[in-house]
Amino acid sequence: MSDASGSIEAGLEALSERYRQRFADADDELALRGARAEVLGKKGELTTALRGMKDVAPDQKKSVGELVNRVRASIEDMFEARLAALRQGMLEAELNARPFDLSLPGRLPVGRGHLHPVRQVMDEILDIFKSLGFEASWGPEVEVEANNFTKLAFPPDHPATDMQDTFWVDVAGADPAARPLLRTHTSNVQVREMSSRKPPMAVVSGGAVYRRDDDVTHSPMFHQIEGFLVDQRVSFAELKGVLTAFAQRLYGPDTPVRFRPSYFPFVEPGAEVDVGCVFCKVEDGTRASCRVCKTSGWLEILGCGMIHPEVFRHCGIDAEAYTGFAFGMGVERVAMLRYGIPDIRVLFENDPRFLAQF
Ligand code: DAH
Repeated sequence: MSDASGSIEAGLEALSERYRQRFADADDELALRGARAEVLGKKGELTTALRGMKDVAPDQKKSVGELVNRVRASIEDMFEARLAALRQGMLEAELNARPFDLSLPGRLPVGRGHLHPVRQVMDEILDIFKSLGFEASWGPEVEVEANNFTKLAFPPDHPATDMQDTFWVDVAGADPAARPLLRTHTSNVQVREMSSRKPPMAVVSGGAVYRRDDDVTHSPMFHQIEGFLVDQRVSFAELKGVLTAFAQRLYGPDTPVRFRPSYFPFVEPGAEVDVGCVFCKVEDGTRASCRVCKTSGWLEILGCGMIHPEVFRHCGIDAEAYTGFAFGMGVERVAMLRYGIPDIRVLFENDPRFLAQF
């Protein structure tokens, strides 16, 4: 081996050793690639060293050439091995790290929620009655037929009990006399309360009720408020006084209120209460006509009446000693009138663009 080839060989070995160390020291891909460029790149050290080839004797060119190729290949291998090790290390670090930093503040401010408009109106109505001395109570939404219909003096063939109007609940082996259903009104609370306590009592209750009804003004699930008062010598005058006070608290002190005779099986006499239409009220207090009140100038807001003695008897209350009045109203209707909502269904679609307006 000539001097030239001997020194090239020694130089290449030293070079290879140096870069083994450089690669080992590179602790990220960028540093590693930088080191590789310094040895194998166009102006890299190995490339420069090859320029010494011209001094090698012709008969040794072949073996020196092979040596150079081996060194190049081995440096390339060292590079690849270190690159793979670095990538593996990064992958493991990522897998072992927490997926994201839970302590970082959120990017979007989270909007504060609020009560659903139906719930807001329901609470407001309940509050008016509570301030008039009624106590709040709750009843179940799945009820037995007796509490929803029979004890409220609905005759067995009353149209409300029809399959078309009521969601009957199938319970295998249930007593046919105690068929469960989704309550069609909150009047079941009257039966439950009157059957379990002694007068005097003044109770108000609100909650969901269910009917097989579905159009722009009817939803299969909606909400009602029910109230009743039982004591000695309660007359229609008290009914009028309480419900007029209520209507004027809800719709304003000057609101006209009228009582129209109507029929419900569990009251006698029965009535419906109307308030002067809030939409066609004009400056001088006269009410012209509009589509909402169908040009009548009045809006119906609730049903009411003197509790039927038959209901008292079914609930174990002495119908000779006590009298009382009861009333029931739809909550969605109040919300729709108040906010001018034309379609009941938007109340239950849970679209935040709608709900955020309340
Ligand atoms: N339960 C009746 C309904 O859903 C409303 C009602 C009318 C309730 C008269 C009453 C009442 O308590 O006295 O249509």
